[in-house]
Amino acid sequence: MPAVDERPLSGYHSDMSAIVDHIADLFATKGAEPYGEDVSVAEHGLQCAALAVRDGADDALVIAALLHDVGHLVEDPDDEFGVHRHDVGGARFLARHFPEAVVAPVRLHVAAKRYRVAIDPDYAARLSAASTHTLAHQGGPMAPHEVADFDAEPHRDGALRLREWDDCGKVDGLAVAAFDAYRERMERLAGG
Ligand SMILES: [Fe+2]
Repeated sequence: MPAVDERPLSGYHSDMSAIVDHIADLFATKGAEPYGEDVSVAEHGLQCAALAVRDGADDALVIAALLHDVGHLVEDPDDEFGVHRHDVGGARFLARHFPEAVVAPVRLHVAAKRYRVAIDPDYAARLSAASTHTLAHQGGPMAPHEVADFDAEPHRDGALRLREWDDCGKVDGLAVAAFDAYRERMERLAGG
């Protein structure tokens, strides 16, 4: 029987740990910067992940919830409300390491806001001041053809669930699980 060579496996493990360490570092060093909400980007991501766990989301959607605003941490802000197109930059960053099941809801979470505003007249009133401000820079409510395209999106439902957590996970001072609670899930997904 040939000897088992563990080098590729350990190499994968270090790659997965390296990206999770990098994201942990982004949360720790840049996550506390203000971006126009009552909570920091790091607090907000952790609250969204906790809501996803509470609602029985699968691991990919939990990690998408945790990391959906990472675009605010990897680019310079446009103004006091952060990076307007953080959906694009965040998805591009995550796509280098994570599967589509994590990346797509992140890429679509701003589109999900534009969709909800277009189809639900009450939704706009629920948005935070920062979300309302950035909406104007993100294209405003979707046009009917964009609504139809979004309805055909394979990750539509996950993106809308993430959007709901996104709008709720902004509670000042709420105690939730820490970043390390999600490490194992992130490493597993980054290795898949
Ligand atoms: Fe968010």
